[in-house]
Amino acid sequence: MAHDDTTQQDLDQINAMQASMEELEDVPSNATENATIGDIIAERLSRRDLMKNALAATTIAATISPMATLAAYAKTPSTTPSFAFDEVSAGSSQTHHIARGHNADVLIRWGDKVLDGAPEFDPTKQTADNQAKQFGYNNDFVGFIPINGRSDHGLLVINHEYTSEELMFANIGEQRKKKFKDMTADLVAIEMMAHGGSVIEVKRDAGKWTVVENSPFARRITAETEMRISGPAAGHDSMKTSYDPSGVNVRGMINNCAGATTPWGTWLTCEENFNLYFWNKGVKNDHADAVALKRYGIPGQAYAWGKFHDRFDIEKEPNECNRFGWVVEIDPTDPNSVPVKRTALGRFKHEGAANIVNKDGRFVVYQGDDQRFDYVYRFVTKAKVNKSNKAANKDILDNGTLYVARFNPDGTGVWLPLEFGQGPLTPASGFNSQADVLIKTRLAADLLGATKMDRPEDVEANPVTNKVYVMLTNNHKRQGAATDAANPRAENRFGHIIELTPPAGDHAAATFDWEILVKCGDPEIAEVGATFNPKTSKDGWFGMPDNCAIDADGRLWIATDGNTQKRTGRTDGVWAMETEGKARGTSKLFFRCPIGAELCGPYFTPDMETFFVAVQHPGASADGIISTFDLPTTRWPDFESGMPPRPAVVAITRKGGGKIAV
Ligand code: FEO
Ligand code: CA
Ligand code: CA
Repeated sequence: MAHDDTTQQDLDQINAMQASMEELEDVPSNATENATIGDIIAERLSRRDLMKNALAATTIAATISPMATLAAYAKTPSTTPSFAFDEVSAGSSQTHHIARGHNADVLIRWGDKVLDGAPEFDPTKQTADNQAKQFGYNNDFVGFIPINGRSDHGLLVINHEYTSEELMFANIGEQRKKKFKDMTADLVAIEMMAHGGSVIEVKRDAGKWTVVENSPFARRITAETEMRISGPAAGHDSMKTSYDPSGVNVRGMINNCAGATTPWGTWLTCEENFNLYFWNKGVKNDHADAVALKRYGIPGQAYAWGKFHDRFDIEKEPNECNRFGWVVEIDPTDPNSVPVKRTALGRFKHEGAANIVNKDGRFVVYQGDDQRFDYVYRFVTKAKVNKSNKAANKDILDNGTLYVARFNPDGTGVWLPLEFGQGPLTPASGFNSQADVLIKTRLAADLLGATKMDRPEDVEANPVTNKVYVMLTNNHKRQGAATDAANPRAENRFGHIIELTPPAGDHAAATFDWEILVKCGDPEIAEVGATFNPKTSKDGWFGMPDNCAIDADGRLWIATDGNTQKRTGRTDGVWAMETEGKARGTSKLFFRCPIGAELCGPYFTPDMETFFVAVQHPGASADGIISTFDLPTTRWPDFESGMPPRPAVVAITRKGGGKIAV
């Protein structure tokens, strides 16, 4: 561990004390027996692994010759430039830090005006009506959609993943362990309005970004916004509820974590830990869908919503939970457009939906199911993207094939199609239609023998190199005997990053090659087994990769979730990671979060002059220190007495202009 005096027991205790979203994600719900050890012998004998061992040796042995080191790193010629900036020192403090020569300006905070008529933010007088017009809580994904192709004027689309009652409301503290006794219908209504997403118009003048006031594009999406369900699961019996007998309309999206933009200008926003909002643990074993509920961790009962809203009670409304856990597509250019839940992309705890137009013109979406022992997915559309007519792509995401990944121990992998009627996905296994396969994606993927991963978060394709990067954030529940080549560490506390190589750059191919780019954690502690390039400084390594961004030059940037003073001696932040040539595996710290926060939504403008980042849950409890509205660990970014910390989107630019880190 990062600090020698911290024992495993201490860490377990600290983890148990933390009342964070991360803790609630902590319960693995995949009890299937997919191969995790069967091929370990083959793995050990594989040529690729021998090469990896040789690589690992070069990072440990200082005696190895420079020629041997060069040979070990001999890969395809460098195709992306290196990063040029002086890195930030790692650590933990109440405010953020940015690499010298750059500005990091707060653009919009929780409670700031989004819609016309929004009142000034006053956290002691908050109402649901106010919140519905103001910027929501816990900003996660950030996407920039240029207006007229510009990089200094566009729409920002932002997810509001979840709420933290202990930091939003005075005098109630953390409610989950108090059975929500202080949660009233009014507070729940505020929470519901603080979820969802925001669309804001932003402009850069004289180097500084501002939110355009009274923009015609401004929009708040909440847990009550009317949405449409489309694709194969729309209208299925399991999607029908007492207030929507058609099974095609649903109110709201919840726990929208990461996402993506599309080449036709829409926003893909991904429902992640939707299970936490459903209520009534008393009935879960008697429920008609008991097996599926268990596999999805429903009801998580981490919010009080079910106390006041029947639809979030699985006894009163047993199918409502099937209408969450989807990728939602939103047209941000039309504030009256109806968001659409695209069921063809599967139902699970979606992290993101990063995508690429394949060389044959089809659209490929890479997806992680963020839970310990869950899977990496890929969706390939049937139709090709129409580049000349954006509107022609309106429903392209309703038809296509969803695949789940199996990582073979020899460094190859297979995309297994989740298609009704193929292999085990038949009535004999309880699947009667493609809708069944999609509504119970996890159960279908279990039957196909997908590889259980260490919490897959963002999965992003690099359009310059066509490599694909998979962020695996951690999995301390993986036991030694259950390790496999793609998840090689028992009690993987710091996560790792896998690089996929599609054959001939074909993202729709049936197979791929893979290798581990880096195992994360402190490289100086041998037991951790981290494999950063030895050129990485004491500030440059990180744990728990979560979101990532690839800039227009093809360089990889990694945002983290879960670094703390006790775990890694540093807060979360964004690190620049070299992927090519001799420097491959070297990382550098670019931006550091205030204490308690994770870093989400890193997103570049096309000209690479602005890097938007989302500072989520600043001042959250960590390292056993309970942080509340009344006594927070930081009051970032306002630092005013009485004002709690506020999640905020930050615009990073270079002083004097120019591309970031070039
Ligand atoms: Fe919401 Fe997987 O992070
Ligand atoms: Ca995330
Ligand atoms: Ca996260």
